[in-house]
Amino acid sequence: MGCGFWDISLIACFSLVLVGVSAGSDELPPPENLTLSMSSDFSIIIQWNRPAGLDADCKVQYQIELYLQKCPPSGTPKRQWRTIDLSHTVEEMAKEMCLKIFTLPVTCPNKTKSEPLYKNITKHPVKDLSCVCYSREKMNCSWSLDSDISDLQLYYGKKGILKPCVSYIYDGFKKTGCHLYGENFLIDTYHFLVNGTEKGVIFQNHFDIDASLSVKIPPLKLNITTDQKYIYFQSSKPDFPPSCLKYHFYFKKCNEDEKKISGTDTTQRLEYDESCSYTARVQADFLTCGAGESKMSETVSYGRNNDPNWPLKVSMIVTPLIVSCCLIVVLVLCRRHKESIFPKIPAPPLLLKDVLSNNRDKGFEVGKLYEPHEDVVEKISVEPESIYRHAEPANTV
Ligand SMILES: *[C@@H]1O[C@H](CO)[C@@H](O)[C@H](O)[C@H]1NC(C)=O
Ligand SMILES: *[C@@H]1O[C@H](CO)[C@@H](O)[C@H](O)[C@H]1NC(C)=O
Ligand SMILES: *[C@@H]1O[C@H](CO)[C@@H](O)[C@H](O)[C@H]1NC(C)=O
Ligand SMILES: *[C@@H]1O[C@H](CO)[C@@H](O)[C@H](O)[C@H]1NC(C)=O
Ligand SMILES: *[C@@H]1O[C@H](CO)[C@@H](O)[C@H](O)[C@H]1NC(C)=O
Ligand SMILES: *[C@@H]1O[C@H](CO)[C@@H](O)[C@H](O)[C@H]1NC(C)=O
Repeated sequence: MGCGFWDISLIACFSLVLVGVSAGSDELPPPENLTLSMSSDFSIIIQWNRPAGLDADCKVQYQIELYLQKCPPSGTPKRQWRTIDLSHTVEEMAKEMCLKIFTLPVTCPNKTKSEPLYKNITKHPVKDLSCVCYSREKMNCSWSLDSDISDLQLYYGKKGILKPCVSYIYDGFKKTGCHLYGENFLIDTYHFLVNGTEKGVIFQNHFDIDASLSVKIPPLKLNITTDQKYIYFQSSKPDFPPSCLKYHFYFKKCNEDEKKISGTDTTQRLEYDESCSYTARVQADFLTCGAGESKMSETVSYGRNNDPNWPLKVSMIVTPLIVSCCLIVVLVLCRRHKESIFPKIPAPPLLLKDVLSNNRDKGFEVGKLYEPHEDVVEKISVEPESIYRHAEPANTV
């Protein structure tokens, strides 16, 4: 009795297993060796193989569904296709996508559609490829990467011929850039391809870079030299075509404001003033042939604000000072002792007035000579004791 129960349950078990197996045998196998690759930012190539072990007379097709969400998806697909081919290209790109694919019978007796396969598709992991061309034949390109992609490769070249990067730049174990060298990068637009596999999805990213627009001139060095006449500012020469470069020299003389001289020459000269100190900096740009510039160089100083000919200069300033001081002293002394040096001379108008007062009846005329003898003669003739009277006016003067 107890045994009978076990028998029944065992039979039930076996029959269930058999049902399961027979049901499974009706179902087609899913596609095999599914691979996805991204050939551009918007194009996904889906490839697979026909499931192994299918009868030759069993014709199948494949259904592809694309969902704009992570796997496993729910709801209805954004887009779907059916094909008898073994590949399909989907032009679609969203932040998150799920691809679903399964086998469907076309003429395959007693078979039903297969279990589906799912694949998450994330946007390609390589972002922002940018380059810095820091000499005619040297360029560093770098990109940002969300996750580590062990098989990541960079290919570059112009006009379709691509060669692999030989000198990767790493951040830990992550490839984040490539050091390119050995050819003139400033001539053409370069094409870059970055590919690899992320979570089973092969990606391929394409970038075009015009290196002449990504120039970064390394900081320049400045030398200052002089001869008797001129002061020379000489910049180092970066390795770029000379006709593409323009140098800007910023200089300061004594305490004047900073001035600028620009030109394609690596050297500029100015009239040299020995008594001045000079400071200068230099910077170059690549604007004639593209875009880019250098950072400002270190500031270089030359000379001091003192005077090598100070005795001469001092004598030129001090001598006039001393001379003018002496002059002032002399003038003051002169003024004070004026009377002893230059005795007071009777003022002619007073004398004349006196004369006039003695000659009231004769009108005084300017320009007419004074003739005292007339007066004297007259007085002598009138009064004989005129010796005293004549002496009197002379004493009052
Ligand atoms: C799938 O790939 C494996 C390994 O590359 C290969 O052995 C197998 O034959 C492939 N399957 C089909 C159905 O081509
Ligand atoms: C897809 O991504 C989600 C979230 O990262 C994960 O849970 C799921 O297992 C992935 N599915 C497949 C098929 O890789
Ligand atoms: C398909 O199933 C029918 C009955 O359900 C059966 O008669 C037929 O033999 C089966 N054909 C094949 C190829 O298995
Ligand atoms: C470019 O990369 C090389 C090699 O990693 C490095 O030595 C050099 O400093 C880099 N130059 C610039 C400008 O980033
Ligand atoms: C990347 O692209 C190169 C050149 O087209 C190719 O030779 C290589 O097999 C690709 N690698 C991957 C992982 O797709
Ligand atoms: C600057 O002077 C130093 C030492 O005299 C010399 O080695 C260097 O080449 C000069 N640099 C330039 C740009 O002239």
